Amino acid sequence: MSEKSMVASRFIFCVIVVSMFLLILSSVFLLQFSSDHSLIPRSVLELILVNNTLLYFNPNFKREQVMLPPFPSGDQIRQRIMVPCDPTRALLRVFMYDLPPEFHFGILGWKGSENQKWPNVDDPKRIPAYPGGLNLQHSPEYWLTLDLLASNTPEVHRPCTAVRVQNSSKADVIFVPFFSSLSYNRNSKIKGNNDLVSVNKELQDKLVEFLMGQKEWKRSGGKDHLVIAHHPNSLLDARRKLGSAILVLADFGRYPVEIANVKKDVIAPYKHLVHTIPRAESSSYEERPTLLYFQGAIYRKDGGIIRQELYYLLKNEKDVHFAFGTIKGKGIHEASQGMALSKFCLNIAGDTPSSNRLFDAIASHCVPVIISDEIELPFEDALDYSEFCIFVRASDAVREGYLLNLLRLIKRETWTKMWERLKEITLHFEYQYPSQPGDAVNMIWQEVAHKVSSVRFDWHRKKRYHRS
Ligand SMILES: *[C@@H]1O[C@H](CO)[C@@H](O)[C@H](O)[C@H]1NC(C)=O
Ligand SMILES: *[C@@H]1O[C@H](CO)[C@@H](O)[C@H](O)[C@H]1NC(C)=O
Repeated sequence: MSEKSMVASRFIFCVIVVSMFLLILSSVFLLQFSSDHSLIPRSVLELILVNNTLLYFNPNFKREQVMLPPFPSGDQIRQRIMVPCDPTRALLRVFMYDLPPEFHFGILGWKGSENQKWPNVDDPKRIPAYPGGLNLQHSPEYWLTLDLLASNTPEVHRPCTAVRVQNSSKADVIFVPFFSSLSYNRNSKIKGNNDLVSVNKELQDKLVEFLMGQKEWKRSGGKDHLVIAHHPNSLLDARRKLGSAILVLADFGRYPVEIANVKKDVIAPYKHLVHTIPRAESSSYEERPTLLYFQGAIYRKDGGIIRQELYYLLKNEKDVHFAFGTIKGKGIHEASQGMALSKFCLNIAGDTPSSNRLFDAIASHCVPVIISDEIELPFEDALDYSEFCIFVRASDAVREGYLLNLLRLIKRETWTKMWERLKEITLHFEYQYPSQPGDAVNMIWQEVAHKVSSVRFDWHRKKRYHRS
């Protein structure tokens, strides 16, 4: 090679190196200092993938993490760094009717000042308290409503999954803030001698009348409305008329399929009654002497007959705790200790396919054994329950020796894997205020977002040939 061409090629090499360096430098610069005036559109920035994690690069915003809806391609939970809750960025824009307090916080005894429709929620210590005990199991109505109120309260830090908007034509879903489970639990009895119906029924009648008169309901026939009826007996009088809405339920046990079904409705977890065991304090395989734990009512109607059959099969086994009695008051403490020291916890169909025992087991990191053929599980599109639960068909469970053989064959290693997974997913079953990324409140909003898009899909297809 001649001297000249050597110099030329070196020069070209240098030019390439320098330009590559400049290119890298400028892209780093763009990423770091992008703001609203950036050359790169926000949507692109938002979707930069690092380690399977969505990161939002904008140092001007406060950084918090929020769950994105699990994508159908994988149920791995993705997180991104959050921006202040802004309706254009939220997963779900929610319009909430300003129903009078008698439908919601009024049932809790809350009284606002004149013309005050909603309690202040800026101080989490001073929000109206929900009654404890068994009522709490069916409290999603309360946590979701609080979360919506918080979305307009900048003092409260929460993930921006759902945001309340004031204009219903800008909303994805219309929220009906009726505490139907609490109304059932508190107001089902006919009180005064002159009253013909209970307050619970009266409220439902009023609610139906109110909704039927709203332009939002008329617009969609209620299909984009969200109604919460977690207690299986709540909304008993109104459910037929409100059945077109997206319902948040504990299960479908007491509903005809045309009113409630897995296609349009959302199954929400019960709020567990036992305390969640902190991860670090959770007993390991060796530290849990009881193989199998069950505590519940002996006789339940309908699907519950299997409880008795199992009782006769298991009552004489020494590493099995099988006792009857509901867990109320002191019983909760006992059950909590019992589950925390058991490897497996039985969840048998009761008078409804679901029960809060499953969620107590999860909070205790006790591997649930589910014997309930009709059970619907919360968030099953995001969670693979077979990773942390054992499913046994009812017909198998009542065969002599079957259940215990199955459980005794599960080795320490397999059990420990399930236990590790349980510790990871417990968060998804926590209701709390303020809500946290990935907790029950946020998981429910994500499920609602999925249902809303399928509702919208059907709705748009039906409109193809209708001009209005
Ligand atoms: C990517 O993953 C590796 C290994 O799992 C980890 O060390 C690294 O910190 C991660 N980077 C980011 C930006 O999360
Ligand atoms: C609500 O939004 C719609 C559509 O953007 C708009 O036409 C309407 O004026 C808004 N209503 C109010 C009260 O702001």
